[in-house]
Amino acid sequence: MVEVIGVVGAGFMGSGIAESAARAGVGVHLYEPQDDALARSDQRIADSVRRAVSRGKMSEDDATALRDRIHFTTSLEDLGPVQGVVEAIVEDPQAKGQVFATLDAALPDARFLASNTSSIPIAQIASWTHRPERVLGLHFFSPVPVMKLVEVVVALDTAEQAVEEAMAVAQQLGKHPIRTKDRAGFIVNMLLIPYLMAGVRMFEEGFASREDIDEGMKLGASHPMGPLELCDFIGLDVLYAVCDSLYEEFKRPEYAPPPLMKRMILAGKHGRKTGQGFYDYRPAG
Ligand code: 3HC
Repeated sequence: MVEVIGVVGAGFMGSGIAESAARAGVGVHLYEPQDDALARSDQRIADSVRRAVSRGKMSEDDATALRDRIHFTTSLEDLGPVQGVVEAIVEDPQAKGQVFATLDAALPDARFLASNTSSIPIAQIASWTHRPERVLGLHFFSPVPVMKLVEVVVALDTAEQAVEEAMAVAQQLGKHPIRTKDRAGFIVNMLLIPYLMAGVRMFEEGFASREDIDEGMKLGASHPMGPLELCDFIGLDVLYAVCDSLYEEFKRPEYAPPPLMKRMILAGKHGRKTGQGFYDYRPAG
C-alpha cells in the first residue's frame, strides 16, 4: 500500500488522478509549473468534491480531509517522499522526456515512474531515464474520478516488480487495472478509435446528422455518449494524436484521422474545452 504519490501535470487528467488518489485516502503531491494552472486544478477538484457533497455522496468532513491530502507544488524537484509518480502533462515527447529525466534524478526511491500518455511509446519516455525498469504506462480514462479502468502499459524494459506495484496502486485508487503491451492504442483506444472515426466520417460524408448519429448509439447501443459527443468530450486534438500514433504504427486506413478533424483543430474547434467542436458549448448570447 502506498501512502503518498506524485502527480505531474494538473490539467483535466492530472487533477482527476489526484482527486481519485485523495478519495482513496492516498496523499498526493501535485506538480504544475504555473501558479494559475494549479489554482484552476484546485478549483476543479473543489467543484467535483462539492458536487459529491451536494448529492449526499460525501460528508463535509470527508471533503475537507480529501482536499487536505492534496499538496500543490510548482517545483518538480520538491515532489517529496513519494512512492510512485504518474505524469499527465501535454502529449509532447520532448517535454515528457525532460520530466522523466528530472524525476529519475530527484526520486531515487520511487517504486515506479508512470506516464498517462495515450500516444507516445513508453520505451521512448523510458529512454530519458537511467532506470527504464521502473518506467511504465498508467493510462487513466476521462473523467478519471468516474471511470474505473486503468491500462497498465508494460514496456520492453519494465520490471515485473514495477508492474505489480503500479497494479496495486491502481487497485488502491479503486480502479480496475488491465495489462497491455507498449504498442499504439493499447487495448481500449485500438478498439475505440476506429469506432469514433467511423462516426466522424459518417458525419463528414453527410450520411446522417450529428444528433442522429449520437442518438443512434445512445439509444440503440446504450452508450452513455454518442461518438461525436465523446470526441468533443475527449478533445479533438488528443484524439488526433492517438489516431496519428495508431496510423503510424499499423498503417491501417481505419486509424487515419479524417480530413474534417484536422480542419476543425486548425479552426480551434477542439471540443468542449474550447467551447466548440461537433457541438457548440458556448453560453448562449
Ligand atoms: N469529475 C468527477 N465526477 C464526475 C465528473 C467529473 N468530471 N463528471 C461526472 N461525474 C460524476 C457525477 O458527479 C455523477 O456522480 P454520482 O453518480 O456519484 O452522483 C456521475 O459522474 C454521473 O454524472 P452526471 O449524472 O452528471 O452525468 P452523466 O450521467 O451524463 O455521466 C459521464 C457523465 C460519466 C461523463 C458519462 O457521460 C460517460 O461515462 N461518458 C463516457 C465517458 C468515456 O467514454 N470516457 C472514456 C474516454 S476515452 C479516454 O479517456 C482515453 C483517452 O486516451 C482518449
